Amino acid sequence: MAHSSNFNPIVVILFGFILLLAVLVPRSEARPRSFFVFGDSLVDNGNNNYLLTTARADSPPYGIDYPTRRPTGRFSNGFNIPDLISQQLGAESTLPYLSSELTGENLLTGANFGSAGVGILNDTGAQFMNVIRMHMQLDYFEEYQQRLTALIGASRTKRLVNQALFLMTVGGNDFVNNYYLVPNSARSRQFSLPHYVKFIICEYRKHLQRLYDLGARRVLVTGTGPLGCAPAERAMHSTNGRCSFELQRSAALYNSRLEQMLEGLNRRFGNDIFIAANTAQMHKDFVANPTTYGFVTSKVACCGQGPYNGIGVCRTTSNLCSNRGLYAFWDPFHPSEKANRLIVEQIMSGSTRYMKPMNLSTILELDAST
Ligand SMILES: *[C@@H]1O[C@H](CO)[C@@H](O)[C@H](O)[C@H]1NC(C)=O
Ligand SMILES: *[C@@H]1O[C@H](CO)[C@@H](O)[C@H](O)[C@H]1NC(C)=O
Repeated sequence: MAHSSNFNPIVVILFGFILLLAVLVPRSEARPRSFFVFGDSLVDNGNNNYLLTTARADSPPYGIDYPTRRPTGRFSNGFNIPDLISQQLGAESTLPYLSSELTGENLLTGANFGSAGVGILNDTGAQFMNVIRMHMQLDYFEEYQQRLTALIGASRTKRLVNQALFLMTVGGNDFVNNYYLVPNSARSRQFSLPHYVKFIICEYRKHLQRLYDLGARRVLVTGTGPLGCAPAERAMHSTNGRCSFELQRSAALYNSRLEQMLEGLNRRFGNDIFIAANTAQMHKDFVANPTTYGFVTSKVACCGQGPYNGIGVCRTTSNLCSNRGLYAFWDPFHPSEKANRLIVEQIMSGSTRYMKPMNLSTILELDAST
């Protein structure tokens, strides 16, 4: 009781004000670079938990290897790719855009707009009901900039966005949860595969153009994984558990068109704004030679049921492997944390076979020296 009277309220207020200044006016060098994430379940870190959707990872055993040992909305046993990239930037993981904690100084870290189930097209993932489709993720990014402007002003907001790193991961669902969702799907009646790929790449280009218009100047764009080799596809769309030929063909076509499209954007906007990460090649390495990378298998998911644990979704009653680090796939569709680590290692330091025009550590060095 007596102790509290020792505090001079003016001093407390002044001290609080100085603390606030220290938070709001950091030296730009001292703060890790902001990071913004867009895309699907490979990058969603909890947005779908706030939505009425069936595309969610909010019950055990999801998150079993996360520091809290609890589900977070990430489609992983532990960290996902954005978390591991944040760690490389020396930063905390970005918060989901819909999180109520994303206010004040937390806005400076960046934000994650990813939403499981989305694709490049609006009609992709319709069966999951409410998800944040790509145009909406970009609308939210505009809204984010208005909120940040209210906090630090327009010119600092612009600088923060121009100097930030962006990650875009989308496209797989346009095959798995659209074109090939059911036999004779509407899109497959409308387009042959090569024409469909051309169409979605053209739509993707518009999203990237808009991201550029909104200030993005360093954008990592990942291709799809080897879609046909996911345990779900081995179980459902192939014979003898081999990779599904049709989905592998789709991924190959899409990934090569995507790289060409990014080269075109770089020619137009100036070099090295869009960086292509050949995630299919990274995956292929450990799908072809799992033991080289410390996996016992790349065919069977750690969590699931049925052949290859590839049927349905991962849930409390599923088969669950005891050592998640030995499996390339965590659930029927998504890589394990260990696989995500290998992918991020290649993103950081891979040769031009994986990263075009260059790997992320080179980009970070370049940006640090300018
Ligand atoms: C997707 O939906 C949004 C909102 O309804 C619309 O503005 C946009 O044009 C649509 N995109 C395409 C490619 O149809
Ligand atoms: C990263 O990219 C740079 C530039 O292309 C290259 O010199 C370097 O060797 C790459 N890192 C690794 C580990 O290959």
